[in-house]
Amino acid sequence: MLKDKRIAIFNIANKRSIAWAIAQSMDAQGARLILGYQNERTKASVEDLSKELTNKPLAIIPCDVAYQEQIEQVQEAIKAEAGTIHGLVHCLAFAPKEALQNPYLFTEREDFITALEISTYSLVALARGLTPVFSNQGSITTLTYYGSEKVMPNYNVMGVAKAALEASVRYLAYDLGPAGVRVNAISAGPINTVAARGVAGFLDILEVHEQKAPLKRTVESREVGDTAAFLASDLASGITGEVIYVDTGYNIMGF
Ligand SMILES: NC(=O)c1ccc[n+]([C@@H]2O[C@H](COP(=O)([O-])OP(=O)(O)OC[C@H]3O[C@@H](n4cnc5c(N)ncnc54)[C@H](O)[C@@H]3O)[C@@H](O)[C@H]2O)c1
Repeated sequence: MLKDKRIAIFNIANKRSIAWAIAQSMDAQGARLILGYQNERTKASVEDLSKELTNKPLAIIPCDVAYQEQIEQVQEAIKAEAGTIHGLVHCLAFAPKEALQNPYLFTEREDFITALEISTYSLVALARGLTPVFSNQGSITTLTYYGSEKVMPNYNVMGVAKAALEASVRYLAYDLGPAGVRVNAISAGPINTVAARGVAGFLDILEVHEQKAPLKRTVESREVGDTAAFLASDLASGITGEVIYVDTGYNIMGF
């Protein structure tokens, strides 16, 4: 499905990262990957994991989205190592811990700005930074969560960041559509990762999800990875500006 496609994925932290599941699904479909890591702390883990892939990654590169110059360096690295790409996966987010445990009412200005900058603006910055290295057809996929639409206790400012992310998907889809670049989001059900465990009470969210979702289970990160592979493929050539739920059906329930 992804043979001859070069796709950049930002960022993998460890084997539980959704970005790693996406890398595995895309690798299984024949993609050639560029893998991103945030800092020296996660570099070795990405290098180790990459040995499990069938196709050796084209590059493994640092990308801390807090720094505009790093986004520019990513563009340079992609040009040098891959020439052009057909896909970008934005799979990263951050909010300070206090903002994910105190009432939303008490969100500090600085924490609000950090969450929105890292989790939302980074999609705009990466899309703008990397469209010059996109081949004439391309796809951008980001990861969101249902807490953007409904209140999930303690998800707080991250819910606000995800709402802005989903709106950004629609505006970017409009801007980039004429260039043949599609932009979509996957709304994944809760998965036990480092980022998710930062949300106070996350284990309760998992338990309730399992009870209420029509499929009576939580989603596997492989299922999110497979959907990301589909969205990056030509099979999804008519889909842009959408939020696709991969949540074992949880979002359709009213009670
Ligand atoms: N796990 C879930 O339940 C769930 C559900 C829906 C959506 N998501 C989303 O999936 C994405 C990936 O998260 P995950 O759950 O795999 O957790 P994770 O902790 O494995 O991944 C988060 C990634 O964000 C990166 N990151 C944080 N700050 C960064 C910065 N300044 N610059 C660059 N990278 C930075 C980290 O290095 C890490 O690789 C996030 O957008 C998250 O909101 C997660």
